[in-house]
Amino acid sequence: MAKPKVFVTRLIASEALDELAKHTVMEVWQDELPPPYPTLLEKARDAAGLLTLLSDRIDAALLNASPRLKVISNMAVGYDNIDVAAADRRHILVGNTPGVLTETTADLAFALLMAAARRVVEADKYTRQGLWKTWGPQILLGQDIHHSTLGIIGLGRIGAEVARRAKGFSMRVLYYDKVRLSVKMEKELGVEYVPDLDMLLPLCDFISLHIPLLPETRHLLSTRQFSLMKPSAVLINTSRGSIIDQKALYTTLKSRQIFAAGIDVTEIEPISPDDPLLALDNIIITPHIASASFATRRKMAFIAVENLLDGLNGKITSCCVNPEALKEL
Ligand code: DGY
Repeated sequence: MAKPKVFVTRLIASEALDELAKHTVMEVWQDELPPPYPTLLEKARDAAGLLTLLSDRIDAALLNASPRLKVISNMAVGYDNIDVAAADRRHILVGNTPGVLTETTADLAFALLMAAARRVVEADKYTRQGLWKTWGPQILLGQDIHHSTLGIIGLGRIGAEVARRAKGFSMRVLYYDKVRLSVKMEKELGVEYVPDLDMLLPLCDFISLHIPLLPETRHLLSTRQFSLMKPSAVLINTSRGSIIDQKALYTTLKSRQIFAAGIDVTEIEPISPDDPLLALDNIIITPHIASASFATRRKMAFIAVENLLDGLNGKITSCCVNPEALKEL
């Protein structure tokens, strides 16, 4: 039987690609930048499988123009770059890479929290610019992390790991989510449920977002929500940029209505070098690197390959986000 044709939209761990090459006729896009949309359309037209990243737009038009496509394997836990409803209609399976990046992402959320609270990036610049003249009692003062209150919005896998880290700093951890955890789980994590976002925000010294981007979570935090936060609050986002209204965040940080923010994701990625947010000293912006450790990216690559191969064989695994796609077949 002829091997299925697959298109991989970026160079991922070579051992994972070697595995894929054993079972498929594989083409790998070699550039650092994603394939332009027309190229992606052309490659998908003949492919049985696509291995994509979150920067590849997989919309209904592309799916409708790809008659052979059986599976799209996204090397990310999030898959808001893919029109899953359109994939369902065309009986195309969609896979993601949950689990393996949970702790690595929580690590970065905590790194941003600490760096923003204690002004680490600003302090480094200060030293490099030769501004360190003496030990000063008022220089670069920040917010305490230990014994403060953290509010986690979205207590899924990653949110839970952030809570565990916070416990190491003797923080009180509150959370808001659509669904409340079991009492046993709340006890185990040492977290307290707050049933309403507006109630949560004024209580927190730190707020960390761990929810997917959905129509109902777009701009969940905007001017009104920022106005409920403490002036000393620090906001962390390692989920998706559009959960925050970025223009409102700019105004809020510029007027020092909250203390600082640390974000790994922006509404448009990459953020434009002219974006006014980049001129502020009370925000740290990293380029969507939450899962970027050597070990985690390797694991993500292997899972993405496995999902692709399973999908080509019509096999539904735990990493398949739309098992319903094969229901009517
Ligand atoms: C994801 O997996 O969705 C992250 O945003 C990137 O690792």
